[in-house]
Amino acid sequence: MRRLMFLLSGEHPTLPVAEAIAAIKAEHRAYKVVEQLDQVLIVETKADPEVLASRLAFCREICWHLCTADVAELLEAIGSSDVVDLIPHGRTFAVHIRRVKRHSPEVDVPRLAKEVADLIASEVEFKVDLEQPEVEVLGALTDGKCVIGLTIARVDRAQFAKRKPMVRPAFHPGTLMPKLARCMVNLARAPTGGTLLDPFAGVGGILIEAGLMGAKPVGIDIDPEMLDGARLNLEGFGIEDYQLILGDARSIPLAEATVDAIATDPPYGRQATTAGLKLEDLYGQALPEIARVLKRKGYACITSPATLELEDLAKGAGLRPIERHEQRVHKTLTRRIHVFRKR
Ligand SMILES: C[S@@+](CC[C@H](N)C(=O)[O-])C[C@H]1O[C@@H](n2cnc3c(N)ncnc32)[C@H](O)[C@@H]1O
Repeated sequence: MRRLMFLLSGEHPTLPVAEAIAAIKAEHRAYKVVEQLDQVLIVETKADPEVLASRLAFCREICWHLCTADVAELLEAIGSSDVVDLIPHGRTFAVHIRRVKRHSPEVDVPRLAKEVADLIASEVEFKVDLEQPEVEVLGALTDGKCVIGLTIARVDRAQFAKRKPMVRPAFHPGTLMPKLARCMVNLARAPTGGTLLDPFAGVGGILIEAGLMGAKPVGIDIDPEMLDGARLNLEGFGIEDYQLILGDARSIPLAEATVDAIATDPPYGRQATTAGLKLEDLYGQALPEIARVLKRKGYACITSPATLELEDLAKGAGLRPIERHEQRVHKTLTRRIHVFRKR
């Protein structure tokens, strides 16, 4: 099986790896983690790298993994391995070396790129084209190693700026940033063509990402004005196949086991209102409903303020905790991003 090398973003310590693995699972593909380094993940899988790149938020590019070597032994490792045989002959190519954070400060990056290119050039028939190469060799310097791969797919990172809350047709201060919203849809393992429910939809930050990823967004909110905003936002981004329902997440108006995945960011009683309910009660009453409408073995990605012990509340609801991530929002708010699986 071929190995994929993910060059991940450094925006969060744990979400990028979790998101990449969740996206592979959402595509119903088996995987085995071969190596995990700072901002680089190498996985054996048959998942389609183009599809993964179109799904991910916290990833920069995806390559076929060629080799990993200690930086000092890189040229020797390339020379003595079958790396050059894996590079297509007769094409134009370029070598890019990227330093992750401040790893391997002693390495002169342009010089190493040239040395790698010269070494490959001595074995492979090619022409260097740094502007529009047909084949790109990527080397990532991280944790004292250099990981080498052939770039196959890049994540369109510029798209997220076009969906920032302030530039969407409808705005609400409690809405999520698009990268986190997309990551949550991945963590919920929403399959392409399946349904993704957000029972606290707000103006649809999560629903927009789900719709753009090819899932059918279904949103519920107790406030009709929020749903009007969600409609404007979904249609503003060209999403036509969606469902918005005025309702209460504590008694979801959907039949049992009908949604494939759930991703939601309930109110914390700050920018978004809990309508006078204590947070424990709101979450405590919504969790059994989330479990009820989710298909068996489906995943739910749910945020909460770190002050709330959500795993305890989920115990009796039939939701098994799978993973948990923390994100500092500001001085007085740390958000937890939980993933549960229906038993
Ligand atoms: C934090 S906002 C959701 C933001 C949304 N994820 C986004 O990115 O745009 C929480 C939403 O929950 C809604 N809400 C509060 N109580 C609710 C309830 N019991 N049932 C359904 N929605 C509720 C609020 O009206 C608000 O729109």
